[in-house]
Amino acid sequence: MIWRAMRLPKGFKLSALVALAIPVLVALTAITTLAASSPSPSPSGSTAAALPGDPTRGAALYGQNCATCHGASLEGGIGAVLNPIDKLPGVSNPLDPTFLINIITNGRTPQPHDPKQIAMPPKGGNAALTDQDVKDLAAYIIQQNTLGAGNAPLAPGELAKRTILWVGIGIIAMVFVTFLLSQYNMRWIARRAAARRK
Ligand code: HEC
Repeated sequence: MIWRAMRLPKGFKLSALVALAIPVLVALTAITTLAASSPSPSPSGSTAAALPGDPTRGAALYGQNCATCHGASLEGGIGAVLNPIDKLPGVSNPLDPTFLINIITNGRTPQPHDPKQIAMPPKGGNAALTDQDVKDLAAYIIQQNTLGAGNAPLAPGELAKRTILWVGIGIIAMVFVTFLLSQYNMRWIARRAAARRK
């Protein structure tokens, strides 16, 4: 009898501790995630590494040298559409930096199935553009094609909101499971008590 009286409260305390510890751990994880994601204000952090140059410089150069043919917002005109970029025949990936750098540097004479039957002049006709300028232009075109198409990296605020949502759902689910387990435990205790009474 004494053994039984001691054992039940002890078991209860342990499970309560576990039930509390899990949400606390999840909450701690959430806080750490938020702390890790908030102090990185660079908006293009991960994409910048993959770009062949500086897209901001590229944007300025584009306005001066390319917009007349390709449109102020890359929508195309005399020249091919650059966002979303036309896939010319025989080109497997029009956003490949090597392809872009090559076509901007050397231009292109129209091939039979190209949407535009006009030649792209080397460096857009401005021979003064340097190799770095061409890389920056390619970076700008890649950046514009990869941003806002649903595959852009999440802004820190948006990431934080989603983290809170999913962690919240996780906590509610775990509280619910704990509740179910406790219900089951109570029924088990009641059944044992009934069996003993017989
Ligand atoms: C005289 C008009 C003209 C100018 C200026 C011009 N382009 Fe073009 N560009 C074209 C045309 C026309 C094509 C399509 C050529 C073809 O299909 O053979 C083209 C094609 C391209 C392509 C390939 C598009 C694709 O779908 O793969 C890129 C990239 C490009 N231009 C970048 C630039 C950049 C960057 C500049 C500025 C430095 C520039 N162009 C200036 C007319 C121009």
